[in-house]
Amino acid sequence: MTSPLNDPGLEQLLDRLHQMSDAQIVETDAAFERREQQIPIDIEGYYDVELRSFLADKFAALDRDKALFCYLLCRSLNAKRVVEAGTSYGVSTLYLAAAVRDNQNANGLVIGTEIEPAKVKIARENFRKAGLNDYIDLREGDLRQTLQDLYEPVDFMLIDIWEVAQPALAMVSPYLRPGAIVACDNTAVDIAEYGEYFEYLNDPRNRFKTMTVPFKGGFEISVKI
Ligand SMILES: C[S@@+](CC[C@H](N)C(=O)[O-])C[C@H]1O[C@@H](n2cnc3c(N)ncnc32)[C@H](O)[C@@H]1O
Repeated sequence: MTSPLNDPGLEQLLDRLHQMSDAQIVETDAAFERREQQIPIDIEGYYDVELRSFLADKFAALDRDKALFCYLLCRSLNAKRVVEAGTSYGVSTLYLAAAVRDNQNANGLVIGTEIEPAKVKIARENFRKAGLNDYIDLREGDLRQTLQDLYEPVDFMLIDIWEVAQPALAMVSPYLRPGAIVACDNTAVDIAEYGEYFEYLNDPRNRFKTMTVPFKGGFEISVKI
């Protein structure tokens, strides 16, 4: 796949991180399948202690094509402030931060958030290796706390998280400027899991126009009007 990033050092780092993530896909998918045989994904309690501890060190990085698509969307929007719900080891964050850097707006920033402290530590190392740490404010903790103080308008949001997609969107929505884009991963994998997310998007009071772009698993692209 041709890359619009035009940053060989960053692309080398991303190749390595994507390979590490890809190597975990089979066991991660199997863990979800096993759990779904016990309990439907949209039932509270699906993410039990065992599944959470299995997922605690998994990359689950956004696919390359989706991440590059986000890079291009951020370039097209001339995005200055970006929010990411679910940073993990920072793969998608690096694409978003590269777009913010390349847009060359003063004080451009990606606000990421990650609940696993060990992932936060490694993500920060990845940002430093890529020379992109000045463009990233990674907030450690549960996004329901960490995304409370955004203050300024947001141009782009990526939601790449298990559970809590709707709370993430509802928290950031008041800050999205007209024309801002929200991308949410895997919305077609299990529609039931995203029921509340789609209810929120489709409620006219929340002012979104939305469609599912047919990347693998579905990639919901919604525009704030
Ligand atoms: C699918 S992964 C994100 C992958 C990342 N976007 C990438 O491309 O590398 C989802 C991440 O969300 C984190 N997470 C789950 N619930 C969270 C919450 N309530 N607040 C913050 N982070 C959370 C998980 O620990 C996990 O690392």
